[in-house]
Amino acid sequence: MCGIVGFIGNVDAKEILLKGLEKLEYRGYDSAGIAVQTGEGVKVFKEKGRIADLRAIVDAGVVANTGIGHTRWATHGEPSRENAHPHQSTTERFTLVHNGVIENYLQLKREYLVDVSFNSETDTEIIVQLIEKWVNDGLSVEDAFRKTLTLLHGSYALALLDRENDETIFVAKNKSPLLVGLGDTFNVVASDALAMLQVTDQFVELMDKEVVIVTKDSIQIQKLDGEVVERAPFTAELDASDIEKGTYPHYMLKEIDEQPVVMRKIIQAYQDDAGELTIDPEIVATLNMSDRIYIIAAGTSYHAGLVGKEFIEKMAKVPVEVHVASEFAYNTPLLSENPLFIFISQSGETADSRACLVHVKELGHPALTITNVPGSTLSREADFTLLLHAGPEIAVASTKAYTAQLGVLSILAFVTGKARGLDIEIDLVQELGIIANAMEVLCDDKEEVEYIAREYLSVTRNAFFIGRGLDYYVGLEGALKLKEISYIQAEGFAGGELKHGTIALIENGTPVIALATQPKVNLNLRGNVKEVVARGAHACIISMKGLEDEDDRVVLPEVNEVLTPLISVVPLQLLAYYAALHRGCDVDKPRNLAKSVTVE
Ligand code: G6P
Repeated sequence: MCGIVGFIGNVDAKEILLKGLEKLEYRGYDSAGIAVQTGEGVKVFKEKGRIADLRAIVDAGVVANTGIGHTRWATHGEPSRENAHPHQSTTERFTLVHNGVIENYLQLKREYLVDVSFNSETDTEIIVQLIEKWVNDGLSVEDAFRKTLTLLHGSYALALLDRENDETIFVAKNKSPLLVGLGDTFNVVASDALAMLQVTDQFVELMDKEVVIVTKDSIQIQKLDGEVVERAPFTAELDASDIEKGTYPHYMLKEIDEQPVVMRKIIQAYQDDAGELTIDPEIVATLNMSDRIYIIAAGTSYHAGLVGKEFIEKMAKVPVEVHVASEFAYNTPLLSENPLFIFISQSGETADSRACLVHVKELGHPALTITNVPGSTLSREADFTLLLHAGPEIAVASTKAYTAQLGVLSILAFVTGKARGLDIEIDLVQELGIIANAMEVLCDDKEEVEYIAREYLSVTRNAFFIGRGLDYYVGLEGALKLKEISYIQAEGFAGGELKHGTIALIENGTPVIALATQPKVNLNLRGNVKEVVARGAHACIISMKGLEDEDDRVVLPEVNEVLTPLISVVPLQLLAYYAALHRGCDVDKPRNLAKSVTVE
């Protein structure tokens, strides 16, 4: 989703801004731009498309030590050069980049800006025009900035340049992530630390409704009323090599291959000195006191939540409901008396989930966030956090974060079940070790999956994924992966449900990917496969050792029945990857999608 960078220092800012935007490309965007302070005012370069397109129009002759940049994922107004950021005020004195959504922008336009002619359809342009209006009315720039912020309803991360003051970047944030980074002779602004790791690993976190006056030698954080806030920087614990592709053609493939290592990291991270799995006792106690768990998440994390429900209900015997975040905040179901909310989010920034968390905290209920990003908004605002230890996930299609979510959820369920004195027969450390090995086997031998992708998915317009029980949930994730990156219309179904309607869509050659890893329903599922094959479907069965039939296309190594989603998803991730590749799609940056969706 939208990204912001800013630089103020003694060296040319252009390349630093462009490189920063490149690091944010993975979040998904449709246009990009930079604005730099030059001796002759602020120069804006912006373009629809990729950063490479922007690079091509940036005038190499312009030298500037201060600038801001933006990648835009369209919300108000189509993807176009006009709607791309930065946006400027009428006199071009002020130049602004913005992440987030201003909900009352039309009202502000009607109330204060009727005489202004606009260049874009964005909500952002309203902000920059308002600032200019208050300055024209006699306010100082800082006061005009502050006054504008008090009028905005919604989410924003902002960086502003003033043509008349090339020694300052004005910054503000509410609900959208934004950091200020520190250097010896410069300072930076970034919506994600990854963007500016190229120049610093020292960052200062900003809270909602804070303003920052950034110069090359100082940063001053203020509340909206002007009160100065002191805050120590933190070191971003990121290894720059984690965010490089290395020898891989795509981040997605690299991240699929990283899954065994991530699984082993998770086992280590959640083991105590005696080798026992452990979770913060306060979390376990809170879980034990709750009569029902509500898992809230979006996209792939929602699918992890569905599997997590099974883990928790089976191992800890606490009832669990799983909700789509965008529905829950505004359509809250009847809650139990002592609920615990678990937010699952790779990025920790998903606005739909955050809206739920705000609501849940207002209701006074405890919340736990399971996330890959320490210090993310959902982590900071929940009572507890469990980390995924998956390392940065760059490809838009989530892979290693999904299996990491399942790993952490299984540990949470296991430790809670043990704490409740339940008789859990499995040795989870050992079982997760077996999972890691099985993942390795699957990642080492990709040929058959590539072949299946070519055979089943090269030209089809649709595909179905079926399974029963846990396999159904994994099928949903497999279908999501496929549609996200190959644009094949793919749906996941409970095997037994197909005949109640969807089977009408089966034609000669329709691909049906069937998961058969659950002993209890293995025969039923195979019956469902027969039903679709009888109607012309081209079926591909992925089963597990011990349950396999002769014609099964992939036989997964045997793992504990409850934990099968951790490995059965791997061939589905690879299937999506190769299908996208064979169809010539941009695997890591699929159209219309964003990695971190910071608007509701
Ligand atoms: C976006 C991404 C999905 C992701 C979802 C939830 O839609 O494209 O891959 O699953 O957001 O993200 P989260 O960071 O909350 O897990």
